[in-house]
Order: sequence, then C-alpha cells, then structure tokens
Amino acid sequence: MRIAFFSTESYDKESFDVANTEFGYEIEYFESRLNGRTAAKARGFDAVCAFVNDKLDAKVLAKLASYGVKIVAMRCAGFDNVDVGAAQELGIKIVRVPAYSPYAVAEHGAALLLALTRKLPQACARTKAMNFELGGLTGRDLHGLTAGILGTGKIGRIMAGILRGFGMNIIAYDAFPDKDWAKENGVKYVELEDLYRECDVLSLHCPLMPETRHIVGHAAIQMMKNDAVIINVARGALIDSRALLYALRKGQIGGAAIDVYEGEGEYFFNDWSTKVVEDDVLARLMSLPNVIITGHQAFLTKNALKNIADATLGSLRAFEEGADLVNEVKA
Ligand code: NAI
Repeated sequence: MRIAFFSTESYDKESFDVANTEFGYEIEYFESRLNGRTAAKARGFDAVCAFVNDKLDAKVLAKLASYGVKIVAMRCAGFDNVDVGAAQELGIKIVRVPAYSPYAVAEHGAALLLALTRKLPQACARTKAMNFELGGLTGRDLHGLTAGILGTGKIGRIMAGILRGFGMNIIAYDAFPDKDWAKENGVKYVELEDLYRECDVLSLHCPLMPETRHIVGHAAIQMMKNDAVIINVARGALIDSRALLYALRKGQIGGAAIDVYEGEGEYFFNDWSTKVVEDDVLARLMSLPNVIITGHQAFLTKNALKNIADATLGSLRAFEEGADLVNEVKA
C-alpha cells in the first residue's frame, strides 16, 4: 500500500518509521497541509494520512477519490475537519485514532491550569533573567475550588480524576451523562448553565460539532464567575475567541489557558516568530498576562505518538485485509 502523509512533522516521521518496520508500507511524507492546492500530491497513492488542520472538505475528497485514494487515516481523535458524509458518498473510508492517550491530553490540560493559576510563564521569565522578586505572582489554591468538566468522555474523565486529586469539587455536563461513573467518582452532573455559574475552572472536553461550536460564547462567559478560568485542550472553536477576548479585557473572566484556537489552522505547527501575525484576536490574547497558549501539543507524548502510529497503520492493514474497521468514522 502507498500512503501519502500530509502535515508531516519530524516526530511523525520518527514514530511512523519505527511502527512501519512491522508493516512495510511505502510512505511518502509531505510537510504541506492537505487542501485544494496540495491534494494533487496524493495522485498515485492508495491511502492518505492526515491531521487536525488538514482540510478534507467535499472538494478535496472528490479530488482524492479521482486519484484512486480509497481510505483516509486521520492520525488524531477529532474529525471535525472531515466531511464524512461526502467521503461516504465518494466511497472513501475514514478512520481515526479514537484513544491514543487520553492521559497525554488531560495531563496537558492540568499543566496549563497549574501554569495559569501559579503564573509559571511569568515566574520562569523572571528567574531566567535572574529576577527573583515575587510581586504580582500571587496564585490561588485549587484545593476546595469547583471544576466544571464539559464533556465526560475519555479525556474529561481523566481530567476529572486529576482535578479530584487536587481536592477540587467536580461538577460536569455531558449530552449523554454516565450516572454510574459520576456516582462512583463523586462527580455531580448539572445543567450546562449551572456548570458555567458554579465552576471556578471550566475545562472543555467535548467534540467540536455544529451544536458545540462557540458553546463558550458571550452568554456562557457572562454566567461565569469573574475569577473563573477556562481550560481548552479540545477544539478551538468550542470558544468564541472574540467573546473571550472581550471578557478578559473587561475583567469578566479570570483567565484562559488554551492548547487550541479557532483560527489555529493558519498559524499552529508553523514558525511565525519573524512574520507578521494578522490575526488580531490571537495576537491580543497572546499579549495578556492571564492567557497561556500552547500550539496544539496536548497529544505530543512519546506514548501517544507510538499509539497513533500503531493504530493508524493497523487500521490500514485491516482495510487491506478486508477485516473489521473498528476505528471507522461514519456519517
Ligand atoms: P470522547 O468521545 O471520549 O468524549 C467526548 C464526550 O463529549 C462524550 O462523553 C460525549 O457524550 C460528549 N458530548 C458530545 N456532545 C456533547 C455536547 N453537545 N455537549 C456536551 N458534551 C457532549 O472524546 P475524547 O477522547 O474525550 O476527546 C474529546 C475531544 O478532545 C475530541 O473530540 C478532540 O476534539 C479533543 N482532542 C484534543 C487533542 C489535543 O491535542 N488538543 C487530542 C485529542 C483529542
């Protein structure tokens, strides 16, 4: 099988080359994102492997189908950037990696929360410059505060467990609540509006879908406490970033630590340090002392990369052999 890889980073190549010693596939790694302009690179390949900011809309998928691509393997959990219905009509299978390491993602969320509440970026910048003053670095105990988990799937549950370990009270909202899990873990499900009102930390762990787009918008933020903080390691567009910026500027919210951003497609995974960033919302958010942004790195642990590579190539092998496609995404 010939596989065209898009959005390849050095760590993808390393982990897939190791995993591929067992499979022996012919892989060509492209650094470019997959979109209408670059889709032609997939000509002559049987499969495409893509990532979070590749664009797999109906047009791109039609091009892939015309080149004879039969399967697209997303090497990630989310698939909000894929028109799954169009793929189905075109006869292209879509597979993903539903759970490569929910620990990697939840732990990054916890790291962001601690970094934000204990002002670690400012503290580290000071000590690097041999400035050991503490003024302005006062933080807050997490112990005794209330964490609101929005989405209690694989990652949300692990985040709930970690925050429980800090001695936080855990409340949660999910469109499909698991009451047994909640009971066993001392978690209280509440209505969405109550989640916003009661939490000191709002942690987002639901998928991006039409009904969750901007689920944290102006109205939600207005319900939240002025010193509450928002953690987003799920998908950028769960938050209306303009509404977030407005609330941060007005002091209506305590801070935000995000690994994902709704306009990230243009910037994340690239070096913009010597270029002009035209996204004023991103630039302004970045300038605020109570905002931390990482560039979609929550998944990036050795464990997760190995699991992603093994599961992705495993799905392609299953497809080749006509076996059950357990990780298939259907419309
Ligand atoms: P999951 O499918 O196990 O859990 C998602 C949960 O959200 C489910 O319990 C589901 O019932 C709930 N949900 C669905 N619709 C909802 C709604 N309208 N309101 C509230 N809850 C709703 O997914 P998992 O593995 O926990 O991942 C969550 C998200 O994290 C993924 O969809 C993905 O977008 C994101 N992610 C981000 C990564 C990163 O590197 N930053 C890496 C991996 C995943």
